[in-house]
Amino acid sequence: MISRRSLLGIGAIGAAGAAVHPRAEQAAQLLGRIGADESAPAGWNAVRDAFDFAHAAAPRIPMNAANLTPESAPVSEAITRAARHLNLDASFHHRLLFLKAQRQRLATLLRVHLGIEHPSSVAVVRNTTEANAIVINGLALSAGDEIVLWAQNHDTNYLSWHYRNSDRGCRCVTVETPGQPRDDQQIVDAFLAKLTPATRVVSFSHISNVTGLRLPAAALCAAIRSYNPRIFIHIDGAQSWGAVRLDLQALDCDSYSASAHKWLAGPRELGLLYVRPEWIERLQPSTVGYDYAIEYPEHGLPSDAERFALLGQRNDAQLAGLNTALELQMNWNPDRIEARIAELGLQLRQRLAGAGFRLVTPEDRRYALGVTVVDLGVAAGEVVSVFRRLYEVHRIYGAYIHGRKVYCDDRPPDTPVEHLYLRLCPHIYNTPDDIERVASILHTELHR
Ligand SMILES: Cc1ncc(COP(=O)(O)O)c(C=O)c1O
Repeated sequence: MISRRSLLGIGAIGAAGAAVHPRAEQAAQLLGRIGADESAPAGWNAVRDAFDFAHAAAPRIPMNAANLTPESAPVSEAITRAARHLNLDASFHHRLLFLKAQRQRLATLLRVHLGIEHPSSVAVVRNTTEANAIVINGLALSAGDEIVLWAQNHDTNYLSWHYRNSDRGCRCVTVETPGQPRDDQQIVDAFLAKLTPATRVVSFSHISNVTGLRLPAAALCAAIRSYNPRIFIHIDGAQSWGAVRLDLQALDCDSYSASAHKWLAGPRELGLLYVRPEWIERLQPSTVGYDYAIEYPEHGLPSDAERFALLGQRNDAQLAGLNTALELQMNWNPDRIEARIAELGLQLRQRLAGAGFRLVTPEDRRYALGVTVVDLGVAAGEVVSVFRRLYEVHRIYGAYIHGRKVYCDDRPPDTPVEHLYLRLCPHIYNTPDDIERVASILHTELHR
């Protein structure tokens, strides 16, 4: 749990000015929000101060949230404190008491943060990869069934389906979408064109990690439902949990996967899988071991999402970090977080376009958020050296992209040069000055 002091220091964002979403208000009451109103810039500076990198003598500036964010200091402190507390007494008795309190807190936070009625429809797993795998392996599918996948899915939600389906004889169908969408209908139509009476599953990333395209998820779910309400809709939320104000119930998907170590700035190696209650018992868990209470399910699998969290002994202290990350998000206010990421992302894209670079990410702000992918218009070797200089000289880190693959090292991929792009993902710990700096560095580096 975050301390009163840390709340006072960084907690005023949600209170500043504009209308507060009812769910944020509910959470604020829940958390007993404290702290005086501040102007937004001062508030965002305080948010940055919650991250250790901001206090380094020569900070390394993160712009790689699509891959991994630094944990905020309150999250790291909560994990360390919980680990030490558990080390004082590692008995069953003590751990179960700790878990009971943390899990009750988590249930309340997840209900509010995800916009779901039943927290028991969420399993805490390791990461998005594991959550995707539970859906891919757990659905009862057979030969001839069709799985419709977005071409921009992460490989854990694309190639993983292909591997699994090579055994069971299902057919994977790929949907391409326009690079610069005109409207929601154009995207919806691209998906609808691939649906057939054999379609059993449609699975897509909420926001692409390789182009930054943000799909109109609610419109897509509604269109798929009206085509055939029995189609299972999976959303990979690796790029939306912690970046977008979520209302999974309104979104109307059947499952949603995410990682805490991306936009939530939460603990590493924790993620979630939400499954709509009516589907839970129709999905087989990948692992059947002990639950969080260290009980093996001898008399049948749980009927709630716990059936996907039978993963044996866990690193319980991480739950304290997850609760802290969620409390911070609710206190900072998910609506404001989303608006801030949108503002920084837009600033970055406008500056890059103004400097003459071609954006791979949609220019229309409805179809983009923070993930920003840019074509520097130079050969692969030069992209890699810019990427390296950004880190080594200018102390800013992002990633570079080829197709569905993300690279963060200095080995250029063995592929055609014109398709190697730079990815920068500003988040709430970045400032408009960071954006100005990175844009002007790229301008100077490439127009020398
Ligand atoms: C859309 C998407 N799905 C899944 C993943 C895998 O995430 P993790 O490594 O946290 O399991 C990523 C990672 O970047 C991603 O961007």
